[in-house]
Amino acid sequence: MKKSLIIPLLMISATIFSQQKSIMRIYPEKSEHIIPKEIYGQFAEHLGRCIYGGIWVGKNSSIPNINGYRKDVFEAIKELQVPVIRWPGGCFADEYHWMDGIGPQEQRPKLVNNNWGGTVEDNSFGTHEFLNFCEMLGCEPYISGNVGSGTVEELAKWVEYMTSDATSEMTQLRKKNGRDKPWKVKFIGVGNESWGCGGNMTPEYYANVFRRYQTYCRNYGENRLYKVASGASDYDYNWTETLMKNAGRHMDGLSLHYYTVKGWDGSKGAATRFDEDDFYQTLAKSVEIEDILKRHIAIMDKYDPQKRIGLLVDEWGTWWDEEPGTVRGHLYQQNTLRDAFVASLTLDIFHKYTDRIVMANIAQMVNVLQAMILTGDKGEMVLTPTYHVFRMYKVHQDAEYLPFDLICNKKKISDNRVVPSISATVSRNKDGVIHISLSNVDTQNNQEIVIELSGLKDKKVSGEILTANNLTDHNTFDRPNIVSPKVFNGAKILNENTITINLPAKSIVTLELK
Ligand code: AHR
Repeated sequence: MKKSLIIPLLMISATIFSQQKSIMRIYPEKSEHIIPKEIYGQFAEHLGRCIYGGIWVGKNSSIPNINGYRKDVFEAIKELQVPVIRWPGGCFADEYHWMDGIGPQEQRPKLVNNNWGGTVEDNSFGTHEFLNFCEMLGCEPYISGNVGSGTVEELAKWVEYMTSDATSEMTQLRKKNGRDKPWKVKFIGVGNESWGCGGNMTPEYYANVFRRYQTYCRNYGENRLYKVASGASDYDYNWTETLMKNAGRHMDGLSLHYYTVKGWDGSKGAATRFDEDDFYQTLAKSVEIEDILKRHIAIMDKYDPQKRIGLLVDEWGTWWDEEPGTVRGHLYQQNTLRDAFVASLTLDIFHKYTDRIVMANIAQMVNVLQAMILTGDKGEMVLTPTYHVFRMYKVHQDAEYLPFDLICNKKKISDNRVVPSISATVSRNKDGVIHISLSNVDTQNNQEIVIELSGLKDKKVSGEILTANNLTDHNTFDRPNIVSPKVFNGAKILNENTITINLPAKSIVTLELK
């Protein structure tokens, strides 16, 4: 930002801070990058009721389904324009043997899901069911390959089975199982959390394992793989450093996992029972991801200044204590207005770093952790506050990111941490329509926001708002619309360069200017 612009903004802001006023200046002429739609990716693991009972009920279920996929879940996910789904795990991926999940469903072996509650896995949802689901949704599959307990040959054959059009044992098998043409599979993860559930490897050892496994993941025909190395979690910068140094030239992408929990000590806390201090602490924990990203990105920049290698935050979201009365190890949690803020604030951060971040996958799509959708065994379904944020934010997918300056109050949290009261994203889509998303995390005060933006002549503003009476409010099967978007009329175009907004306390708004 030019110095001449900073000074007037600061002068005005100093006089109005006490009135919860904020100033935003948007620079539409300075668009720097596109927000890749893959930032809105999802993660679906064989864990709890994410796949079974969430996405998949089987053809013979009394719950309405399309060839075994829950109809209501499919339609809700379709509405989100999900660009990519990561599957089959997670920790599950490193114990998954893909051949168990092909062929006649009734003949597939039953196994115990050792990672997640010892539940019996009947393998009725396998490669065909997943890749067909992606085709029905019009999204990309992101396959997470077994490196921890699988062989190089097994992974190589999986790639061949899915993507080859040649005549071979694998393609004959695929055809016998009902799929003639190969699927398009671009993203392949070579292991998951290889420092932990994926094999407890050291970074030096894994770097060599990655180099070996990825060698045999071949490009068949027109299919081009994008090979993702299993990356660090949180603050493990040494993992990123070692991988970049020892295996950087063999990878297309490197992953990162970051979960938002309540406490700095790693404690989780209840999903629906928390107070205002907990709320702010959680938000501080969620925006901490920005510093973590900067440090991992700085290491990647050192080894890859051309930014050839993408960073994939392929697991992120809130992780609370499991809901009382649910199966241990199934990671089922409710989802409140607090989760909605974690989603909007995190997406706002991801949008800023898309010169390096190429994908993000919230954990997880249905019934697990920060889910979009919760389902019941009798056919009930509810959309969570997080779903509504993803729906309100989908307008930013593949849109140009418009830079801005924002001057607002900052909420001080314990440990000298701060959370800005306003978080935002501004983008312009291919039709020239501008969308502004604003989150007011202040639980008590409305925010008056003055937005400077040129070119507003003849434009109209409309909007949607997500808020609730209480931070702990959430949707249930009996009361599904406690937290749901409403029409927002609090934005006014004052003149051809200015919009004013009265943003209610604890609310998330997306405006459309056209
Ligand atoms: O998302 C739940 C689990 O969290 C995943 O299986 C694992 O990769 C991570 O530790």
